[in-house]
Amino acid sequence: MSSHSLPISSLLALFFLVVLTRVPTILSVDDPRYSTCRETLTCGSVSNISYPFWGLNRLSYCGQPGFELRCENDVAEIMMNENTLRVLDIDPERQILKVAREDYWNGYCPTKFINTSINYDHFNYGSNLRNLTLFYGCNLPTTPTFTVFTNCSINNTLTDMSYATRNMLVDTRYSTCRGIVVVPVYEAAAKDLEVNPMTIQAALRGGFELQWKADNDECRRCRDSDGVCGYNQISSSFTCFCSDKPSETTCLPPTEEKKKTMGKGLILGLGLVVAITILICFLVLWFKGKSLLNQGKKKEDARIEAFIKKFGSLAPRRYSYAEIKKMTNKFNHKLGQGGFGSVYKGKLPDCRLVAVKVLSESKENGEDFMNEVASISRTSHVNIVSLLGYCFEKSKRALIYEFMPHGSLDGFIYDRGLHHRSCRLEWRTLYDIALGIARGLEYLHQGCNTRILHFDIKPHNILLDENFCPKISDFGLSKLCERKESIISMACARGTIGYIAPEVFCRNFGGVSYKSDVYSYGMMVLEMVGGRKNIDVGASQTSEVYFPSWIYKHLDQSMNLNLNGVIAEEEEEITRKLITVSLWCIQSDPFDRPSMTKVIEMLQANVQSLIIPPRPFVSSPVRSPKTLEHQK
Ligand SMILES: *[C@@H]1O[C@H](CO)[C@@H](O)[C@H](O)[C@H]1NC(C)=O
Ligand SMILES: *[C@@H]1O[C@H](CO)[C@@H](O)[C@H](O)[C@H]1NC(C)=O
Ligand SMILES: *[C@@H]1O[C@H](CO)[C@@H](O)[C@H](O)[C@H]1NC(C)=O
Ligand SMILES: *[C@@H]1O[C@H](CO)[C@@H](O)[C@H](O)[C@H]1NC(C)=O
Ligand SMILES: *[C@@H]1O[C@H](CO)[C@@H](O)[C@H](O)[C@H]1NC(C)=O
Repeated sequence: MSSHSLPISSLLALFFLVVLTRVPTILSVDDPRYSTCRETLTCGSVSNISYPFWGLNRLSYCGQPGFELRCENDVAEIMMNENTLRVLDIDPERQILKVAREDYWNGYCPTKFINTSINYDHFNYGSNLRNLTLFYGCNLPTTPTFTVFTNCSINNTLTDMSYATRNMLVDTRYSTCRGIVVVPVYEAAAKDLEVNPMTIQAALRGGFELQWKADNDECRRCRDSDGVCGYNQISSSFTCFCSDKPSETTCLPPTEEKKKTMGKGLILGLGLVVAITILICFLVLWFKGKSLLNQGKKKEDARIEAFIKKFGSLAPRRYSYAEIKKMTNKFNHKLGQGGFGSVYKGKLPDCRLVAVKVLSESKENGEDFMNEVASISRTSHVNIVSLLGYCFEKSKRALIYEFMPHGSLDGFIYDRGLHHRSCRLEWRTLYDIALGIARGLEYLHQGCNTRILHFDIKPHNILLDENFCPKISDFGLSKLCERKESIISMACARGTIGYIAPEVFCRNFGGVSYKSDVYSYGMMVLEMVGGRKNIDVGASQTSEVYFPSWIYKHLDQSMNLNLNGVIAEEEEEITRKLITVSLWCIQSDPFDRPSMTKVIEMLQANVQSLIIPPRPFVSSPVRSPKTLEHQK
C-alpha cells in the first residue's frame, strides 16, 4: 500500500464529516410550501394579505377554502354564493374584511337582482351595519319611508328605484315589483342617507364589514414559533408550515444560538464542501495511474469490515463462503436472478430452509450489503423478512434469509410474459397482503429511534410465506434516519421506474421522506388490483393506457368498476377500498399522501367513509412490468 493513501482517507473522512453534518441542514430548509405561504398577496390597493386568504401567488394550501381572493384589473374580489364582493380593506388584527357589492359599485341599477348573502361558515356581518332595501319597478310614492329615483335604465327599460334605509317586511304590497334587493351599508352611511338621499352611491360604495373566523389562536401560535399558517386539504385542518416540514401545531423553536450560527455555518459548510470536492477530484485524478482501483476495493472491504465490527452483537450470524457453498449444495437450486446477483435455495445445519442471496461483485453491492444488514438487523416484525446470517469474505458477499415458499408477489399479479408461476389470488388474500405490507411499512416508518425508509417497495421485493403472509425484503436501497428528521438528503436517486416517487428524482415535488415509500406502496397496490384479469382495462393491450388514470376515471364515475362476471359485494368493496387508498398514496405532492398509519386505518374503514382523492398528476409514465429496471 502506498504512503499516499493516508491523506486521502483522512480527507475523505473529513469530507463525509462535512457532508453529513452540513448538507442535511442545507437541504432541510426546503419545504416549498413554507416559502410559498410566507409570501403575502397584493392586489391593487389591498396589500400584505396572508392566512386565511389565498389566491394569485399564494396557493390553495396557504389558506382556507372560502377565502380565495381573485384579482381582476387590480381589484381584489372574493366570491360568496352568488355575490362578487370587492375587497376594500383587510384588517388582520381585528379579522375584519371590508367589502362592497361589485354590481353596485358603478350605480344602483344592476342588470340582475341578487340579494346579499354571505358564507356563514366563515363570516358574520359586522355590528355597525344596517340593511338598505332597494325596490325596483314598483311605482311606490315618495314617503318618509321611501326615497324614489325614477331614472334607472335596466336592460333598456326605464325602471324606478325606491329604497328604505332599514329592513322591510316584504308583503303583497310589493308583488308588482320587478325585484327587491337587500344590501348592507354602514349605520353611519344609512343615517347620512336619511338626511341626504343623493348620497346613495357613496353609501353603496362605502361597503360593509364582515368578521371572519379561521383558526386564529392556532395561527398566532404558529407564527410565534416562526411558522407560516396553512391548511391541510386532506384532513381539512389547520397546518403550520415550518422551514423544513409541516406541523400540526407549531414549529420547534430553534435555539437563539443555532439561529445565529446557521447562516454562517451554511456558507462555511458549503464552501468547505466545494473546496474539498475539488481537492479530492484533483487527488483522485492524480492517483489514478497508481492502481487506485485495487486500493479502492481494499478500502471498501475495510469499510464493510469496520461496519460489521461496529455492528457487533446486533448483526446476525456470520458464515464463511465454504459454509455458504455447503448450505446451498454448491449453488445447486437457483430461485431467482436480479441485478444484484442470484438467489439460491439452501439448508442450515439445523435443517431450516433458507434463501441465500449471493451478491455480484460491484462497489454498489457493498453499499447494498451494508444497508441490508443494518436495516434488517434492527427489525423484528411479522411482515418483514428475517435475516438469519451473512457471509463476507473478501469479495464474496451473501445474505441468508428465511425461505419463502411462495416466492415474490410479482409472480402472482402479472399474468403475462415470463411469469409462468402466475396464478390468481382471491381478493380477500390480496387485501390481506396489502394490509400486511402496510403494517410492515408502518413498523419501518415508526421505529422508535431510527426510522427506516425502504425506497424500493415493489411486488418483486414482497415475499410470501406458506400462508401468503407478505414480508418486505430487499433493503439494499434503504436508509436509516433519525426519527426527528423527516426530510432526508439523497446523493443519488435510486429505485425502480414505475414505483419511484416523483420527489426522489425531481426535488421540485418536495423533500424526500417516508412519503416516498407511501407512493411506491400505492403504485404497487394499484398493480395488485390491475394485474387481476377480471378487471377489464377497457383498452387493447397494445395501447398506452396509464392504469391509474383509467382507474381514476372509473372511480369518479360513481366507482362503477367494470368487473367481469359476478362479483360478490364484499369483493367489490375490497377493490374500491384498495383503489381509493392507493390513489391517495400516489398523489404527486408528498404532503397529500397519507402516512402508513392512516393507510391502515383507511383499509380497515368502511368503504363509504372514504373520500375519493383528487386526480393524481400523471404524465406518460412507464408502467409495463417488462421494462422495470434498477435505476442508478
Ligand atoms: C403585514 O402584516 C403583518 C401581520 O399580518 C404585520 O406584522 C406587518 O407589519 C405588515 N407589514 C406591512 C408592510 O404592513
Ligand atoms: C337583463 O338581461 C339579462 C340578459 O338577458 C338577464 O339575465 C337579466 O335577468 C335581465 N335583468 C332584468 C332585471 O330583467
Ligand atoms: C331578497 O330578499 C327579500 C326578503 O328579504 C325577498 O323578498 C326578495 O324577493 C329577495 N330578492 C331576490 C332577488 O331574491
Ligand atoms: C340584513 O339582512 C340579512 C338577511 O338578508 C340578515 O341576516 C341581517 O341580520 C340583516 N342585518 C341587519 C343589520 O338587520
Ligand atoms: C338619476 O338622477 C339623479 C339626479 O336626480 C342623478 O344624480 C343620478 O346620477 C341619476 N342616475 C342615473 C342612473 O341616471
